[in-house]
Amino acid sequence: MSSSKTFPWQTKGQEADAETETNPELYQRFADLVSSFPTSEGMLDQLYRHDQGWHAPKVNMVGAMVADSCFAARPSDIIVASLPKSGTTWIKALLFATVHRDEYRPADADDHPFHSVSPHECISFLEFRLYSGNRIPNLDKLPDPRLFATHVPFVALPRTIVTTTSCKIVYVCRDPKDTLVSTWYFLNKFRARAGMDPLTVERAAELFCDGLSPFGPYWDHVLGYWRAHLAHPEKVLFFRYEEMQRDPAAHVRRLAEFVGLPFGAGEEEDGVVAAIVRMCSFEHMSGLKATKDGSMMTKDGPIANSLFYRRGVIGDWVNHLSPEAARRIDAITQARFKGSGLNV
Ligand code: A3P
Repeated sequence: MSSSKTFPWQTKGQEADAETETNPELYQRFADLVSSFPTSEGMLDQLYRHDQGWHAPKVNMVGAMVADSCFAARPSDIIVASLPKSGTTWIKALLFATVHRDEYRPADADDHPFHSVSPHECISFLEFRLYSGNRIPNLDKLPDPRLFATHVPFVALPRTIVTTTSCKIVYVCRDPKDTLVSTWYFLNKFRARAGMDPLTVERAAELFCDGLSPFGPYWDHVLGYWRAHLAHPEKVLFFRYEEMQRDPAAHVRRLAEFVGLPFGAGEEEDGVVAAIVRMCSFEHMSGLKATKDGSMMTKDGPIANSLFYRRGVIGDWVNHLSPEAARRIDAITQARFKGSGLNV
């Protein structure tokens, strides 16, 4: 079931739509360029290496390039940025619930949009959903603040996101070993659907260490946003999944302040922060009917909303990765993050 209800802030999905412009020539021009880039085996799709040094399947790289040339940021825009499987669904839920808390009261969680659409439909990806299928969406009518998401590294963000000073970026990263295991699980589901053999976790770890994970290398991605955060803390918020798990309420308060919507004393007294944390928790979100029965259309066909919820715990890598693979990843992390001030 994909929801038929639409909201004013909701963007169009993959469906063809008479109002949406298309520009097949622009998409083709970027597809031709991406075709000239070096390719490598990936965990699911073949990966292309952009000359900025990052890897992605062709269709997403083309989407990112079209977004770069067509997306016009507004000063009030808020962009969620992350690597896949780092807690994107969670931070999207927290940001959406925080920004829209007056319209959709988290205390009355039964009426909340999360009962009909997934956080991925509340906050759409630029390169996966909006700039895909030859479409150039008209995003002008969306109410402020517009919320979008991306998996591209900082260097590849649509340039107006970077140059529009007050447009904000919320980044979340996660321990590389847990990010890897979560990615491996997720992509094996798509391999099964495509009739491919499952990838072993050993092979997935090798590809990950070689930077051949979607939007990887992992370390470049995290460092890119970390440095942007250090240089412009008022523009780039930097969260870690593990710290969010330890104290979600503190993160919701920081998020609200960062986007210019701090919680008032009355809201604190009414327990609004705790209500947002509860509503967006793994237990609540994964149990919703919209999660269990809902799906969202993608280039690969419908994806069940439930796929974005697996275990949601810290340190599950220990159940899957060999000590050697873990040591190899830790060694790369130590070497790459040395002197950066970053401890993941
Ligand atoms: P696991 O596979 O380790 O369980 P993304 O949203 O970036 O695709 O990341 C998915 C990961 O975040 C999955 O991790 C998923 O279970 C976890 N996750 C999804 N929603 C969550 C939530 N509300 N709270 C905590 N973790 C969540």
